[in-house]
Amino acid sequence: MIIRSKIKILRRAIALFIVLLCISCKTKQENKSDTLAAAIFSTIKDEDFDTTIDGKSVKLYWLQRKDLKMAMTNYGGRIISLFVQDKNGNAIDVNIGRGSIKEYMESPEAYFGATIGRVGNRIANGRFAINGNEYTLPTNDNKNTLHGGYKGFQDVVWDAEQPNGYTLILTYPSPDMEEGFPGNLQAKVIYSLTEKNAVKIEYEATTDKPTVVNLTNHAYFNLNGEGSGSILDHKLQINADRFTPVDAGLIPTGELSDVASTPFDFRKPHTIGERIKAINEQLEFGKGYDHNYVLNSDENGLHQAAKVVGDKSGVVMEVFTEEPGIQFYSGNFMASKNTLKSGAKDDFRTAFCLETQHFPDTPNQPGFPSIQLNPGEIYHTVTEYKFSVE
Ligand code: BGC
Repeated sequence: MIIRSKIKILRRAIALFIVLLCISCKTKQENKSDTLAAAIFSTIKDEDFDTTIDGKSVKLYWLQRKDLKMAMTNYGGRIISLFVQDKNGNAIDVNIGRGSIKEYMESPEAYFGATIGRVGNRIANGRFAINGNEYTLPTNDNKNTLHGGYKGFQDVVWDAEQPNGYTLILTYPSPDMEEGFPGNLQAKVIYSLTEKNAVKIEYEATTDKPTVVNLTNHAYFNLNGEGSGSILDHKLQINADRFTPVDAGLIPTGELSDVASTPFDFRKPHTIGERIKAINEQLEFGKGYDHNYVLNSDENGLHQAAKVVGDKSGVVMEVFTEEPGIQFYSGNFMASKNTLKSGAKDDFRTAFCLETQHFPDTPNQPGFPSIQLNPGEIYHTVTEYKFSVE
């Protein structure tokens, strides 16, 4: 009898100990994420972004509305930080980036948060033709051109105007033959925070000669917050029945393949990591996911392309776009070469990208929707990243 009641007391004591341990762990974790947010806030200093590049003034711009607070710079039209609320009401920075212009200029990773152009993603062998005229581009990704060449839009200084506290209007006149692309292109990108808790990006362009245009944004996201580790447990859904398979150089073969019964099927939510190590030639070529999805949509307006949920934070990001495709990149080339705002390194797969776009290598793929822009036409496309918690 005495032994039994002693065991009972012992069991209760152990249970109490475990409960106390859990509470203390949770508080420590919460404090840690608070401290991280505060640390990132305080490491972004206006003066570290205040400089002159190519004779133009570069600055840090803050946008704020509802639960969102976003820092941007006109160097490369980059998102530096994007603070959203997690399920505990803490502000966390879900945009991976660096802490100063100097770091961005010297960064081994060139595209953190940047506006990408004139043509996002790859053009095979740096060549294409428009109306029989052949053009040759610099090849900055083995024998291909990636994200507009060496000095793409991520490295130019945009003119910036802030009409209100939640909008930044960026304009850039890209001269004829810049990085090999024909035509003087007047590019305009409006970043704004909406009433519905979304980051809205509105792209516009006109040209004076036939050219090609495919603008996007290259934000690297970690919905648990910058510096919080792997993204493999994030849950992802992509509204696409098909994707564009690639060759070993990540150039589309031209086919549109069904995702059904493959690790590329994200029509129902799956964690990013669930099938990333499956034996699959496409995953081998991409070193993980680095593929363009052919989005399902009945009409040409804004349609839901993807939804991602941060496993620790409960932060939900939904992507809406007018574009026919989205590049899902699972951070396979991240290799701890960049120190981030939080002081953490950009370790392997600690962020992902969802870049809305026309399909890669379109100028050489007659079967893909065209990206040609002619004089007198207006390029106009909208993408939104909307945030909530669940
Ligand atoms: C590409 C990746 C590339 C990354 C560079 C993505 O858009 O698909 O292949 O490594 O950009 O940051």
